[in-house]
Amino acid sequence: MRVPLLDLTRQHERVREAVASRVQAVFESQQFILGQTVADFEKAFCDYTGCAHAVGMSSGTDAQLAILMAMGIGPGDAVVTTPYTFFATAGCLHRVGAEPVFVDIRPDTLHLDAEKLREYLTGRGPRAADGTVRTARGNRLRAVMPVHLFGACCDMDALEEVTAAFGLPIIEDAAQAIGSEFAGKNGGTARAGTFGQSAWFSFFPTKNLGAAGDAGVTVCRSGEFAAKLRSTRNHGMTQQYHHDTVGGNFRLDALQAAVLLAKLPLVEEWNAARRHNADLYRAALGDLSDRVTLPAEPWRPAGLVNHHTYHQYVIRAERRDELQRHLAAAGIGQAIYYPVPLPLQECFAYLGHQPGDFPEAERAARESLALPVFPELRAEEIAAVAAAIHSFYRG
Ligand SMILES: Cc1ncc(COP(=O)(O)O)c(C=O)c1O
Repeated sequence: MRVPLLDLTRQHERVREAVASRVQAVFESQQFILGQTVADFEKAFCDYTGCAHAVGMSSGTDAQLAILMAMGIGPGDAVVTTPYTFFATAGCLHRVGAEPVFVDIRPDTLHLDAEKLREYLTGRGPRAADGTVRTARGNRLRAVMPVHLFGACCDMDALEEVTAAFGLPIIEDAAQAIGSEFAGKNGGTARAGTFGQSAWFSFFPTKNLGAAGDAGVTVCRSGEFAAKLRSTRNHGMTQQYHHDTVGGNFRLDALQAAVLLAKLPLVEEWNAARRHNADLYRAALGDLSDRVTLPAEPWRPAGLVNHHTYHQYVIRAERRDELQRHLAAAGIGQAIYYPVPLPLQECFAYLGHQPGDFPEAERAARESLALPVFPELRAEEIAAVAAAIHSFYRG
């Protein structure tokens, strides 16, 4: 049986009419840039995630860029992030002229490790008289950017404790984590995007909430910062043709907002279906624990509904490359997220990192393999994936 890694046509069958009618309404209005549809989506997104303010952007990458620009992060600044994520997280730091600083991941969740972050920050020595922490290159640390990778929230309590001690704000990369929940020590459950000073999400078509092209959103706590983001996404304009700052064209299209508005009410159901699929894998692959490590579910014991939203179902596999070839030959979709840790990317050679500097990220890059998990996946397809993995390890 052939099993695709992702088949968006199955989702489209479900949303065809809702999308068509919302898109039609935009055509009728002929309001393609910003306007009511974008404002309606921003409001609906806040209602779903619990974020105070949402500002629609042209992509997740542009959403991150807008945050960095609105914070005035640039040359002379540095931001800490994870070495094991999609490229944009660090690429945007480079683009604004800031230094990307990498701190290794936890081996279980593959998230930025709060203890290693503490070690790194403590190792920077006493803070300067103005309270700043500087990197070895002399740049001023401005923020920490954890990534809620694959759909599980980072340990926000641990990260907040460390960042607060060093006076650094958290900016969340929630690109892969719409709806993902975390229960803080103080007992409250909250969704990705509400923990940091600001955050961004991606609506790349393959995401749990996908647009019909590129789209994203920034969210934040402060109304003042939201106003800055609105101006940044529109060339730094606060009043027509008056530019207080230099921004960009990072606007969310009304047509994309229409698609997102049609799909948003189904995200909760889709996230539940992804979790159900993960449970089927857990049952089917549990006996291979000597060969395969299944994704960690750190917040499941807390009883949260969206303890994981499985944007990707990523296992760690012994002889990963051989397994990948075996699955490909059997017609089973799979992918490696991500084969090269960011510090070892050619474009970051100037940072001077060597293999061995980020052992956990490097191990994850060698062992990780994503299996199909999309909501419309059928139980017999999951059984076929599991059978192919069994046949590889047990013959
Ligand atoms: C973790 C992470 N950060 C940032 C992005 C960038 O989002 P976009 O592709 O919408 O620009 C993505 C998208 O794939 C992502 O997965």
